[in-house]
Parts: sequence; structure tokens; C-alpha cells
Amino acid sequence: MSSIKISLLVIAFLAATPSQAHPGLGFGWGGHPGNGRSPFAALSPDFYQFSCPQANDIVMSVLEKAIAKDPRMAASLLRLHFHDCFVQGCDASILLDDSATITSEKNSGPNKNSVRGFEVIDEIKSKLEEACPGTVSCADILALAARGSTVLRGGPSWELPLGRRDSTTASLSGSNRNIPPPNSTIGNLVTFFKRQGLDEVDLVALSGAHTIGVARCVTFKQRLYNQPDETLEKSFYFGLKTVCPQSGGDNNISPLDFPSPTTFDNSYFNLILWGKGLLNSDQVLLSGTVKETQQLVKQYAQDNTLFYNHFAKSMIKMGNISPLTGSNGQVRKNCRRVN
Ligand code: HEM
Repeated sequence: MSSIKISLLVIAFLAATPSQAHPGLGFGWGGHPGNGRSPFAALSPDFYQFSCPQANDIVMSVLEKAIAKDPRMAASLLRLHFHDCFVQGCDASILLDDSATITSEKNSGPNKNSVRGFEVIDEIKSKLEEACPGTVSCADILALAARGSTVLRGGPSWELPLGRRDSTTASLSGSNRNIPPPNSTIGNLVTFFKRQGLDEVDLVALSGAHTIGVARCVTFKQRLYNQPDETLEKSFYFGLKTVCPQSGGDNNISPLDFPSPTTFDNSYFNLILWGKGLLNSDQVLLSGTVKETQQLVKQYAQDNTLFYNHFAKSMIKMGNISPLTGSNGQVRKNCRRVN
């Protein structure tokens, strides 16, 4: 074998082997020291460069078809990555089905009758298993699908650190505890994000994901009746009441960004300025008592490029929450069950 071939093989091996030899390099700032997972996860954008160079193309080709068929799917996949990362880190724990040893996160309060997109993840996974068996983790598929979905709706792209591995456990209680509810105060939201190593900029920028997708009546009903939320603009309020009656209709849906529900843009922030944020958690970014979030809403409403830049940075940060790396976890063959 020629020496060029040998050195290429060495590079390929190094690239395919999650390395923790250089803590401090890589993208480790989202990690949580002391929880048994490396705070310095050696995620790298080149992780599959040799072991599965076509990984992103495969993800994108499945996404293109799935989103053409159902435009909302982009939103649903973006949200899946968020709900994965906030529960024991970005480890695809959300994808595990109930089994003898697993109590699925799919039945938690925030997820039940709400999260979707699992069939699309299955399709991506089976295509990747055909092309590069046992190589691309389900946690990385979620991160790739979140980025791809953002791009396909016209949003920003970013260089995505990869090399996450999949959990062998799920946490129903973690899912109930760590995903912020829609009636959160601004104080609660900041606390939920801080717990994940995310700050006020991350909170406002990532909330901008609500520029696409929908919410069910049950998630904003409490703003409409008994003591209606005074921050709701009047015509918006009356419109919402027709979609979301006081009794029943819990699963009726309303767009989070009604002027452009399938375009990834900053109109979400303009809506908030007009009192037309759908969820309480959207509106309190402006009406709450935290100056920094108020100012960010105004800045993003004015400056789409700033929003895109911050969103991309914060997605990388969120994607770096406590990943499993090295010999921790596994690369599942089927995202719904442990190997
Ligand atoms: C800041 C705290 C957040 C709260 C309280 C919140 C809450 C919610 C709720 C209640 C829904 C509607 C779910 C339903 O009715 O079934 C929703 C939808 C959505 N959320 Fe969030 N969310 C937050 C942050 C985020 C983040 C950080 C992301 C992603 C980066 C995100 C992405 C989405 C997307 C894209 C949808 C629409 C999903 C679809 O149409 O299928 N959210 N969110």
C-alpha cells in the first residue's frame, strides 16, 4: 500500500473515531461538567468526512420530499432537536419508543399529541444505514434535520459540529421537568435555558424558531378566557377566540407566525411588537421584566441578518448540550430502539 493511501487511512480512522484527546478544542461549551458526560465533546463538522461523506446529501434529499409533501414538517423536525437536547442532552433519547426497558419521552406533557416527524427520521436513518451501516447516529440525524429544515424554509445555514452518539436510556421525568411550558413567565424561561447553559440571547434567538409551524389551541387558551391577556392586540385576540373556543377545540391549530407560517424570517419578532405573539412565552420576551430580551426582540424585528446570525450560533450551542461521545452511548441501528 502506498504511503499516501496509508496516511489517508489514518486520517479516515482519526476522523471516524471520536477523539477526546484535545479537550478545549472543538465545541464543548454547552456541556455540563459533573454529569458523567464530557464537557469538552469533540464534535467536529468533518466527523463523517471519510466514514459517510454523503450523510448530509441523504438527509437533504429525504427532507426535500417530506417538506414538499407537508410544509409543516420543517417546523416539526426543528422542534424535535430542541426537545431532544433539553432532556439529558442531544442524544436522540426522544426517539426511543416504549419497551421493556424504556419509558418513552414521547408520552411526556410537552410531547404527547404534539411532537411529530418520527417517520421522516426513520426514513433518513434507513437510507443512511444502507449507505454507511452503523455510522451516523440518530442524534446527529436530528441535528442535521434541524439545520436542513431551517435552510429549506429560507433560513440561515451553519457549520454543524457532528459526532454525537445515541443514548441507551430515555427520561420521561426529565422531559416533563426540562422543557419550558408555554405559559412560562420570562423568569421561568431564563431559568429553563440557564439550566442548559443557554443565556438570554439564546432564549430570544431560538424562540425565533416560532417563525414556522403551529400551536394547538390548548397551548394558548388560557390567554383568551377568564382574565384575557392584556398584551394581546384586540383583533388578533378576537380572531384567536374563533379558532380556540372556551370549551373543546383543544387540538385546533393556529400558526405561530400567521403572516408567513412556512418562511423562516424575522416576522415573528415584528408580531411580538404588535401584540400578536401566539404563546405567552413568545409575548413575554417583550412584555416581561428582562431588559435584555426586550431589546433583542426589537433588534431582531429590525435586523433579519442579526437574527439569522444569532440563531445559527445559538443552534450550535444548543446542539452541543451534553453530547455522548467517545465510547459513551452507541450508534443505534434503528432510532426507535437501543441496539
Ligand atoms: C422558549 C421556550 C419555548 C416554549 C415555551 C415553546 C413552546 C412551544 C409550544 C407550546 C408549541 C406548540 C406545540 C403544540 O401545540 O403541539 C411550540 C411549537 C414549536 N416550537 Fe417551541 N417553544 C419554545 C422554544 C422553542 C425552541 C428553542 C425551538 C427550536 C429551536 C422551538 C421550535 C418550535 C417549532 C418549530 C414549533 C412548531 C412545531 C410544529 O408545527 O410541528 N421552540 N413550541
